[in-house]
Amino acid sequence: MGDKMDFDVVIKNRRSIRKYSNQNIPITAINQIIEAGLLAPSAHNRQPWEIVVLKKKQTEIAAIMKQYNSIHPEDESILKTASTIERCNTLLLVYCNSFEQWEYDLLSMGAMIENMLLKATDLEIGSVWIGNVVPMQKEISNYLKIDDRNKKLVSAVALGYPLHEPKPLSRKKLLDIVLYQDFMIDEE
Ligand SMILES: Cc1cc2nc3c(=O)[nH]c(=O)nc-3n(C[C@H](O)[C@H](O)[C@H](O)COP(=O)(O)O)c2cc1C
Repeated sequence: MGDKMDFDVVIKNRRSIRKYSNQNIPITAINQIIEAGLLAPSAHNRQPWEIVVLKKKQTEIAAIMKQYNSIHPEDESILKTASTIERCNTLLLVYCNSFEQWEYDLLSMGAMIENMLLKATDLEIGSVWIGNVVPMQKEISNYLKIDDRNKKLVSAVALGYPLHEPKPLSRKKLLDIVLYQDFMIDEE
């Protein structure tokens, strides 16, 4: 374990980790990650989040995904994500329970999830944001006996101590995406 990471280093070090050692993540660390999520901004401070923490049911969630894939084979990434889920130490299912203004609530959920990923990185825990569970919401909620009539499964987050360092991925450059209006870039 190294020294505490600088904020910029945390942002830079956060990468999607899909292979994990079998070291267990203690509940204290899981709670620290979720607490960081709770500090995220949310539209009208609605805090529309609910998290289900799974430690042992990853194989069954992956099986539900494989079953879905056998009926809808067009999306191969679902199978890859299923094996990530099988390997992870802890799986967070992230539900949204507010639909007052769904688009805003969904943005709030994204902020919450990113906060959790950054805190996981800060704790040197690998994580990956998973959208591929969304199509199987009904099956997953039924299996877990969660009444999801007023909830939407928006994502999952897989967690585990990293077993690999991902290759660098290209990122867009600042000047490719920003339109500076009303002032010159070399001002100041
Ligand atoms: C909304 C969202 C959904 C994602 N869903 C998946 C997924 O289902 N499976 C997966 O392996 N990665 C998933 N990812 C991770 C992205 O593939 C990853 O963030 C992207 O390739 C950039 O790589 P990096 O996270 O290492 O920087 C998702 C990311 C986001 C933001």
